[in-house]
Amino acid sequence: MRIAIIGFGVVGQGLAEILRDRAAELQSAHNFHGEIVAVATRSRGTLYHPDGLDTAQLLEAIGKGHLGHYPHVYGLTRNWDALTLVRQSNADVVVEVSPTDLQTGQPALDVCYAALDSGKHLVLANKGPLVVAYEALHERARLAGLRLCFEGTVMAGTPVLRLAQQDLAGCRISEARGILNGTTNYILTQMGTGLSYAEALQQAQRLGYAEANPAADVEGWDAAAKLVILSGVLFGTPLALHDLDVRGITGITPQDMEAARQAGERWKLIARVTPEGGSVRPMRLPLSDPLAAVSGATNAITYVTDLLGSVTLVGAGAGRLSTGFAVLSDLLDIHRTS
Ligand code: HSE
Repeated sequence: MRIAIIGFGVVGQGLAEILRDRAAELQSAHNFHGEIVAVATRSRGTLYHPDGLDTAQLLEAIGKGHLGHYPHVYGLTRNWDALTLVRQSNADVVVEVSPTDLQTGQPALDVCYAALDSGKHLVLANKGPLVVAYEALHERARLAGLRLCFEGTVMAGTPVLRLAQQDLAGCRISEARGILNGTTNYILTQMGTGLSYAEALQQAQRLGYAEANPAADVEGWDAAAKLVILSGVLFGTPLALHDLDVRGITGITPQDMEAARQAGERWKLIARVTPEGGSVRPMRLPLSDPLAAVSGATNAITYVTDLLGSVTLVGAGAGRLSTGFAVLSDLLDIHRTS
């Protein structure tokens, strides 16, 4: 499978690391060989080689700060922009993992359309294009007979979407509720141990949990974007971001944390969606609530179903390898079915 990676930050590099370190295992266990042929960044260069780039050298080059450090080899192209790479490269799959813009979905949305219009399967960890154009992207992929996969947009590689789409198929899901943002759960957990809000946010950024612009995390919009995507997957029609009732954690003070602690409760940012609407809001949960025990960048989601009752999945919500793995799980899914 020839892969073009658009955006080479935390997630793109996480995927490249996995492909570098698991190549033999993926080949022997899944008959899968992933070859990165193209990488595009906004300000740190682009690379294309139709026979494949050396993943170790790719990671070394970006580790030095710019893809310009990649060694010159015969057949290498360095000056194509992302759209040219997507349209003209020989990639089978485009992986869109550039920073999320929840207002316009751009520039990633154009990359997505270009991928589908040039006959390439599309894998996203970037939420922006789906929040802005969920139905249009699905329609285009359907008409072109191509796969559109985005497991990594909700709870990283924890298989939240695949569980709903495949394993719970046949059940009716009436509600999803949980902790859907790793950064805020990490901040709330750290504040609970006495760290300041600013220090906890800095740590979340350093660990690769936060969005490029962490305002989306702390103000609740990242979790809201995940509800938009979930509503599309679970109920067929995505809710609009502006229809959701969204509050973040920026107003929670150390005094609020202490008051909850004294009452035997914990603050959590709870996201909930039904066919009628959705909300994101900080809530004080008693310690007896299973969600109160979900800490750090771990997330959790409960699906309320008719045939099976409630089903809860707890797992990584953000992070370099856990989101890189989400993309790999989509690539393997495409490999298995095409
Ligand atoms: N910034 C997001 C989070 C990344 O903290 O959950 C995963 O979507």
